[in-house]
Amino acid sequence: MINFKQLVNEYKTPLYVYDLDYMTSQYNALKGAFKGKKSLLAYAVKANSNLSVVKHFADLGAGADCVSIGEVRRAFLAGIPNYKIIFSGVGKSDDEIREAIEKDILYINVESEAELGRVELIAKELNTSCRISIRVNPNIDPKTHPYISTGLHANKFGVDLNTAKRMYIFANNSQNLDPIGIHFHIGSQLTQLDPIRESAEIVADLIRSLASIKIELKFFDIGGGLGVQYKDEKTILPYDYAQAIFSTLTALDLTIVCEPGRFLTANAGYFLTKVLYEKQNGDKKFVIVDGAMNDLIRPALYNAYHKIEAITESVLEPRKVDIVGPVCESGDFFAKDYLLPELAHNDILVIHSAGSYGFGMGSNYNTRGRSAEVAVQDGKARLIRRRESFEDIIALELEFLQN
Ligand code: LLP
Repeated sequence: MINFKQLVNEYKTPLYVYDLDYMTSQYNALKGAFKGKKSLLAYAVKANSNLSVVKHFADLGAGADCVSIGEVRRAFLAGIPNYKIIFSGVGKSDDEIREAIEKDILYINVESEAELGRVELIAKELNTSCRISIRVNPNIDPKTHPYISTGLHANKFGVDLNTAKRMYIFANNSQNLDPIGIHFHIGSQLTQLDPIRESAEIVADLIRSLASIKIELKFFDIGGGLGVQYKDEKTILPYDYAQAIFSTLTALDLTIVCEPGRFLTANAGYFLTKVLYEKQNGDKKFVIVDGAMNDLIRPALYNAYHKIEAITESVLEPRKVDIVGPVCESGDFFAKDYLLPELAHNDILVIHSAGSYGFGMGSNYNTRGRSAEVAVQDGKARLIRRRESFEDIIALELEFLQN
C-alpha cells in the first residue's frame, strides 16, 4: 500500500505517483501471454513518457513505440536499443525521418503513399535503405470513444488494403526501402476482442497474399489499445488477447510486436491533489482542489471517469459534489455528481488510473507549473521529475521581453 499522506507531506501537491512494481507485473503478464512465439513489447512512450518510467521498461526488456523524434530521443536516453525502437505517426517531418534513419531504428511505420515517397527520397540522400512497416487501416469499428478510435476509414490513420499492397510492391522494388513489417492499431481503451481478431485476420490475409508474390515480412505489429478498468469495465485478458492473435497466424512465422501504453501504466498511476475549500452555488456543491485540467485533462476532454478517493478525518455521510480545479474553464473538473463526505482544507484526494495520458497531456495553461512526479518501487519513493517553477515556465520568453 502506498502511503499517499506521507508522499504529500514530502513532495506537496499536485503530484503524480507511479507504482513501478505494478508496471512490472503488467509487463510480465502481457509478455507471458505471448510465450512460445517471438514477441516484442514496444512500450507506447506517449502514454507516460517520463524518462524513469521508460527506463523501467527498458530494464524489463521492452522496446519503444514512438510518435515523434522527441519520443525516439527519449527512448534512446532511457536505454532502449535502436533495434527495439519503432517510429509511428500519421505525419513525420523530413528532419524526423532523416534522424530516425540515421539512428538505425527497427523500422518506420509508414502511414501514406506520400510518406513512403519522402522516406525513400531521404534514405536515397543518405545512401542507405530504410526498414519500413506499413500501417493498414482495416476499417473495423473498435467500439471505443470516437476520439480514440483509429481503425475506420473515417479516421486519418493508416491506408486501405489495396493501397497497402501497392506500397509494398513499390517498396520491394526500391533500393532504398526494405519492407519488413505490417502494422495496425484500431483504437485505444479496447474492451472487445472481436474487432481486434477481425483486424488481425484481415492483416494476416494481406501478409499471405504478399508472401505469394515473394514479399516476405518479419514483423506483425498489432498496435496497442488494450483497455483497462477505470470503473467497472470488463477488460480483455492478456491470454485471450494473445490467443486471438495466434489464431490468425497459422503457418506464418512472424515476430509479434505489440505497442501497449495504457495497459502498462494507467492503473499504476495516481494523481494527488489537496482540497482548497468547498463551495455551494444554489443546489450545487463544489469541492475546489489545487490540481486542475492542465494536470489531468481526461475528464474534460473525453468525459473520462477516474475513481476518486478522499483521505479525510470526516465521518459524515457522502453527498454528491463536483470536484473542480482553479482553472478558468467550466470544463475544469475531475468528476461531477461524485459521492464524497464533507471535506476540510488540506484533505487529500487520490485520483486513480492516472498513469497514462495524465502528466503527458498536461500544459501550462493559466501559467500553472506542471506537477512533480514520483516513482515508488520496493516500498521506496523517489522524485523522477521536479515540480515546474514559475521561472521554468517563463524561461523561453524572458530573453525576448522588450523594454
Ligand atoms: N500504438 C499506436 C499507433 C497508438 O496510436 C497508440 C495510442 C498506442 C499504440 C497505445 O495505445 P494504448 O495501449 O495506450 O491504448 N489520450 C487518449 C489515448 C490516445 C491514444 C493514442 N494512441 C486517452 O487519454 O484516452
